[in-house]
Amino acid sequence: MVPRRIVLVLVAVAFCGLFLGAGQETPNSPKEVTYNRDVAPILYKNCVKCHRPNDIAPMSLMTYKDTRPWARAIREAVVQRKMPPWHADPKVGDFMNDPRLTDEEIATIDGWVRTGTKEGDAKDLPPAPTFPEGWHIKPDVVLTIPEFTVTGGSQDDYEYIYVPTNFTEDKWVQAAEVLPGDRRVVHHATVSVIAADKVAKKEEENSKADAGVDKYHYRTGKVLHLRKDAPVVDDGCSSPDGGGVPGKGSGYLNIVPGIYLPGHLAETRPPGYALRIPAGSYLQFQVHYSNHTGDDVKDRTSIGLVFAKEPVKHEIAQYEIWNDLFLIPPNDGNHRVTSCYTLPKDVTVLAYTSHMHFRGKSMTTEAIYPDGRHEVILNVPHYDFRWQETYFLKNQFLLPKGTKLVTTAYFDNSFDNAQNPDPSKAIRWGEPSDEEMMGFWLQFADPKLVDEKAAVAQK
Ligand code: HEC
Repeated sequence: MVPRRIVLVLVAVAFCGLFLGAGQETPNSPKEVTYNRDVAPILYKNCVKCHRPNDIAPMSLMTYKDTRPWARAIREAVVQRKMPPWHADPKVGDFMNDPRLTDEEIATIDGWVRTGTKEGDAKDLPPAPTFPEGWHIKPDVVLTIPEFTVTGGSQDDYEYIYVPTNFTEDKWVQAAEVLPGDRRVVHHATVSVIAADKVAKKEEENSKADAGVDKYHYRTGKVLHLRKDAPVVDDGCSSPDGGGVPGKGSGYLNIVPGIYLPGHLAETRPPGYALRIPAGSYLQFQVHYSNHTGDDVKDRTSIGLVFAKEPVKHEIAQYEIWNDLFLIPPNDGNHRVTSCYTLPKDVTVLAYTSHMHFRGKSMTTEAIYPDGRHEVILNVPHYDFRWQETYFLKNQFLLPKGTKLVTTAYFDNSFDNAQNPDPSKAIRWGEPSDEEMMGFWLQFADPKLVDEKAAVAQK
């Protein structure tokens, strides 16, 4: 029960609020919302890592002058929760990199726009955040590919480029970011760890005109596609291969320190968890180039690594789980595809990524535990190709050996999908973005402690 007197005071305060809202406020009234005092801190914390000069967002929100013309659009974007971007269903899982604004922050921005976007007192403005040029992390080491020329007007091209780390001891990577040399041509880039003695063989394989081609695949230029006559399996869970090509299975292990995808930010793993790059390893940069400019463009893509500064307890790796055999009919606005994968060992779950192309509509992954319990672990209800986030759990948890991961995706190959390159085509797996993929990636750690010696923190 709220005492009567307090209720009266609250009512009185509410009335004052009404008056103030009607434009009665004085310049120093506590109700006034100003850019310098109230709005800038929100933008600095939540927006400017993308909304600053030469970054991925179309406009800077670093200063009052930059921000003022966008005030209405900003209000709209935050009220509708379009910005900051985030596509995981907040009712499923708690994520440490969830950037969504609080209701109070949204109300502040809303109030600022409604009350005339005032700048306020210069002394209220906190110092603007600073960033190392280009990076969103502060790398200890940067490894860069040799300059690569992407021919003007070239179609999609997957290049495999190997860069020696020259590490003389094992290194533990806590955070990493892949920075495209030229965003106009780097469509995506995956950086994985590879042993030095495997590089020559890989390079030889990749240089073959029929690299990756088997009875299910063919190649045009430097990209792979699924053959039209490959078996069709939309419901991967109904097949012994889980949706993977026969005999290959739907999931495989990969060690991926960093990836650049549309809308994907630097990955920072929770304290105590890190990825091992063994001494002497190479990094494989798989770069998907796509040059729509008429000119040759030179690229030097890099990865920045932040080493673990505290003892590492658990080593990180990733399962990449796919359906590679689906067929999305033309004009189908809601085509269902599933994949199934049974975990071959106990894992501690750290993060999830959903990967589809322009026709991707939604994706849900459910864990079926060995004891029969079902639990939805990730739900991306409105997938957007432009925003391929990796969702890092606040609380890591164990998925025991034998847990079945069932991923269900829906694709929209209709006219209603504004991003659809061509609704008249039947679509199968393919590396170019105008074909499709259906992937769920599980970043996990070994639940066992890494041995004490290896766990010594590195400078
Ligand atoms: C992860 C990077 C990122 C973050 C964080 C981010 N934005 Fe954006 N924002 C973008 C990109 C890229 C676009 C353009 C593409 C799009 O609209 O999806 C955009 C578009 C916008 C637009 C639409 C512009 C238009 O054309 O109408 C507004 C407004 C906006 N952002 C405001 C904000 C605000 C306010 C925040 C913080 C509360 C924020 N953004 C956080 C990357 C980001």
